[in-house]
Formats: sequence, C-alpha cells, structure tokens
Amino acid sequence: YITFFLVSFFLFLLSLVRSNEEISRSQFPRGFFFGAATSSYQVEGAVFEDGKGLNNWDIFSHIQGNILDGKNADVADDHYHQYEEDFELMHSLGMNSYRFSISWTRILPRGRFGDINPSGIKFYNKLIDSLLLKGIEPFVTISHHDIPQELEDRYQSWLSPLIQDDFEYYADICFRNFGDRVKYWITINEPNLFSDLAYMRGIYPPSRCSPPFGNCSSGDSDTEPLIVVHNMILSHAKAANIYRKYYQVKQGGYITIVPHAEMLVPISDAEADREAANRAMAFSAPWILDPLLHGDYPPEMRQYLGDQLPTFSPEEVNIVKGSIDYIGFNHYSTLYAKDCIQSSCDSGSSRAIQGYVYITGERNGTLIGDVTAFPSFFVVPEGLEMLVEYLKTRYNNKPMFLLEHGMAQGNEPIELHNELLHDINRVNYHKRYLASLERAIRNGADVRGYFVWSLIDNFEWIYGYSLRFGLYYVDYQSLKRIPKSSAKWYRNFLTNDTYVD
Ligand code: NOJ
Repeated sequence: YITFFLVSFFLFLLSLVRSNEEISRSQFPRGFFFGAATSSYQVEGAVFEDGKGLNNWDIFSHIQGNILDGKNADVADDHYHQYEEDFELMHSLGMNSYRFSISWTRILPRGRFGDINPSGIKFYNKLIDSLLLKGIEPFVTISHHDIPQELEDRYQSWLSPLIQDDFEYYADICFRNFGDRVKYWITINEPNLFSDLAYMRGIYPPSRCSPPFGNCSSGDSDTEPLIVVHNMILSHAKAANIYRKYYQVKQGGYITIVPHAEMLVPISDAEADREAANRAMAFSAPWILDPLLHGDYPPEMRQYLGDQLPTFSPEEVNIVKGSIDYIGFNHYSTLYAKDCIQSSCDSGSSRAIQGYVYITGERNGTLIGDVTAFPSFFVVPEGLEMLVEYLKTRYNNKPMFLLEHGMAQGNEPIELHNELLHDINRVNYHKRYLASLERAIRNGADVRGYFVWSLIDNFEWIYGYSLRFGLYYVDYQSLKRIPKSSAKWYRNFLTNDTYVD
C-alpha cells in the first residue's frame, strides 16, 4: 500500500508539473507556422450576396430541426465584410499563417453547369492580397463541407463519380486564379468524418444513413460512406494531378488533403484491445492517407471490409499514389478502443465498417481526459504526441502540419459565465498541447505548423452558435469581436519571445 501511495503521489506531482509546463515559441523550429483556421460557410455570412449560388448547407440549415439552436449561417460572423478587421486581429496576435476555405458557390454558383462568378474571384483575390500585405501565409481549403446544391440535385454529389470532374474543374479555376500567391493547398476537409456524419449518421446534408443509424429519410447501404470517401480521394487526385501538370512548377506550391485524425488507445492491456486500437487507427486518418501515400486503402480495412471497400484501377493508382506533398491533419481528441470481435459490444459498434471496434471516452467510470463542451472531444495532450509519432512511423516522417486544433465552450450568457472571456481552460489546453507537440518534434518528428480552431467563435454546423471555439468571443448581436484570455495568452506566446542563436 505504501509503495502504491508513493507511486500515485509521484504521478500526481508529475501531472501538476506538466499542466503548468511553460512553453515558448523559440522551442519550435524557425519558420514554424503558427496560425488560425476557419471555413467559408462557418464565418463568411453574406450567403445571398454578389452572385453566390446556394450550397448544401444553405439549404440544410434552413430546414427546421436540423440545427440545434434553429439558426443558420446567413450572417454568421459577417467575415465577408469584416475580413480586414479579422486579419488585423491575427496580425496583432503575431500569427504568420491563416487557413481558410473558398466557397465553391461563390466561384461557381451552379458548379460546372453555369458560369464562373467574377465577384467570387474578386473577393478571394482581395482576401489573399490583404493577408500577404500583413505577412500572413494563406493555407487554402478548396472544399470544406460545402458543395453547390445543384450537384446534389442533379446527380447526388459525392455518391457519384461525376463529382470528380466537377471538383477537378473547380480546383483548376482556383489554381489558375489564386495559385500565383497561394502556396499551401488543401483539397478537401475531413473526408472521413464528413462521410460518417453525412452518409452514416445522417446528421449532415444530404442526411443519408447506413445501418444501424436508421432514422434518415433516405440511404440504406453500408457502403455509401465508403463510396463517398472513394470519390473524394479520386477528386483530390485529379485536382492534384492538374496542379502538378500545369501549375506546381511555375507557382512553386504544395498540395494535400486533410483527414480528421483522432488518437485511439487500447481500453485495456488485453491483446484483443491492443489490436482493436491498431485497427481503429487504420480506419481513421490512414483510410485517407494510405491511398495517397501507399497507393491503396489500409490492409486492416481490406481485411474486414473485403469487396465492400472500393478498389483503385492501375490508372487510378497512378494519379492517387504520391498525390500529396505534405500531411495535413485535424486533431481534436484521444479515445479508448475496445475489441468487439472476442467480446460483445452493442450492435451500433460491432460492424465491419467500424472495424468491429467500440470507441469511448470512458473506462470503468473514469473519463480519459477533461471534458470540453463538444461531445466526445476530451483533453488528452499526450495523445497528440502519440498521434504524431504514429504518423511519423507510418508515413516515413513526411512533413506534417496540424491544420486544426481547438476546444469548445458552451454558449451560456456571458454575464453568467465569465469563463467565456476568461477562458483559462483554453489557455492551459493550448499550453499543454503545444508542449506535447514540442516533445514530438524534439523526438525527430517533422511538424511544421499549428493552426488553432478557431480565430473567432463561429457557426459550428449542426450545433449552430451553441458552441464557441474562438480565441475571440463574437457578440452575435453587434458582431463585435472581444479577445478572450486565450487570445491574450497567444499574443504573449507568439510575440514575447525571440530566437536566440
Ligand atoms: C473540424 C471541422 O473541419 C470544422 O469545420 C469544425 O468546426 C471543427 N472540426 C470543430 O468541430
């Protein structure tokens, strides 16, 4: 008992030291990108202005019952009109990079079935120029969950291979118009999580379900999420191919795709659970990254999904394999994985498409980390170090950029909840995660960027405005941005530190 007590006490002291760990910018490599991320639908607003066409979210968010607080992003943060001020905020924090997305329907209101909208091109030109004037490097996502509604209505968008040509056509326009100044491209945001939410759980548009999530109006096939991801990977590859052929040499940029990348750890020491965690990892980011770097889906997926998993033809492998220049990943949580092959789990998790793994944040009544306001996102800083180590090994230490990372708070009235502005939890969150990332870098991982989700509170998809991720608080009445403690901390972190040679 005495030994047990002493060991526990020691671990407790260690955790205190770790939670107060100070971290400084100069511990990161020179030229490291510190930035923030947003996406067009979540911040821009102005959804009916200057010739923009309707996208899937414009339609979906207007249908009653789809968004938790009944709101939509017609106005959102009004970033469309206030981008200069927002860039000034970033500049004042000392950020040197910014990830944003282009709204497909501002550029092509009707996809390939209509003309290019010159006002859309003009808007993003202004954005890019303004960033560069402030010394902020743009990282640009071509599609972040939004697609022209017309593509959904005509041929079911991502379910059809026709989308590949539409995406290629749209990406080409982006490279041609913006690629002289944009050096970091991201084709598609989180194909793996999006296909799960939109085609398995049916809670994102187009609200299609796969068993056992049976409450949707349409869709009833286990393979839809797999087909959607397949079309996204081929869309990416075709766009990257065009980029490589016609633009990359002249423009000198880099291209990637960004998966949602969680860290999965075994729920127990049992061999079966350790294997389950391995499997769950393969079904996560490698679902997207293996084809692009190794030329096919992870062998673990093939083993459990067999013929259900689509295949790439030799010509497709030619354009898919090697079609990313760097690894981008979004990381929000670490969770436990429990085997469902040898022991029984509820039917919702013991399915081939999930690798027969049950994923949870809880073990014997104890949570894996502190909770955040976002269900299933826990604070587990050491998980980031483990994930980076995993990606480093699996992909031969290809350069990595953490392109989204952040924590949510609820949306209680600010007078009742002054933690919304004095967000010490978020300050500690970033301190601890940055320390974890720095350990991975010290251990040889080639990580080159850290992007906070998000600069400003914004429209959090089905949660509407009820979750706040920003370093800046947005008052949705006046649309004023108010710095939270985390913004002030970040400014200190980025500016109060100089490199010593
Ligand atoms: C990842 C998505 O890319 C982003 O749009 C979303 O707001 C954050 N996760 C937080 O959920």
